[in-house]
Amino acid sequence: MSRAIVVFESLWGNTEKVARAVADGLAESMDVEVLDVSTQPSPPSDDVDLLVAGGPTHAFSMTRPRTRADARSQGATQGCEGPGLREWLDELPSGRHHQRVATFDTRVGKARHLPGSAAKSAGKEARRHGYETVTRQSFWVRDVAGPLFDGELERATAWGRDLAVRMGEPAR
Ligand SMILES: Cc1cc2nc3c(=O)[nH]c(=O)nc-3n(C[C@H](O)[C@H](O)[C@H](O)COP(=O)(O)O)c2cc1C
Repeated sequence: MSRAIVVFESLWGNTEKVARAVADGLAESMDVEVLDVSTQPSPPSDDVDLLVAGGPTHAFSMTRPRTRADARSQGATQGCEGPGLREWLDELPSGRHHQRVATFDTRVGKARHLPGSAAKSAGKEARRHGYETVTRQSFWVRDVAGPLFDGELERATAWGRDLAVRMGEPAR
């Protein structure tokens, strides 16, 4: 069975819920492990076929120490110390990889018109390290602290299921 890891960053728990829902979809046809980036997980081992990386969008991109401090001042209780997804991806080994990467983020629904997403930045960072990115997706929260809009967890599970199916297809 092919193997996936889902690495997430989350300050209020919304992205964590999405990560676990994505993993539920992947788990229908892949072996899946979910890892919190703040626990400083090791880079994916060689037997991992798919890395799924997700985090909250902060200031149009992935979080930074300054934006995590800002989140803490707004009441966030987890992951504020980092490392965040940006720092974790930055530490990934470079070179050509057989592993494929998909990225996701959470963003505030009322700011849909604004550009920039953590998923887009994370994909760019992964490609810089030699990974092939397959796809990316945003999931929507009502406000800075959440909650997620109704139906987003179901959409996340469906996205994970679809990703697993794509993994069964040859790389392009
Ligand atoms: C400092 C800061 C900057 C943010 N910047 C953006 C942004 O540029 N675009 C956006 O849609 N949401 C932005 N948000 C809202 C976050 O995306 C939201 O808090 C996140 O999706 C919640 O997920 P979490 O519970 O996993 O942390 C920002 C939040 C904070 C605290």
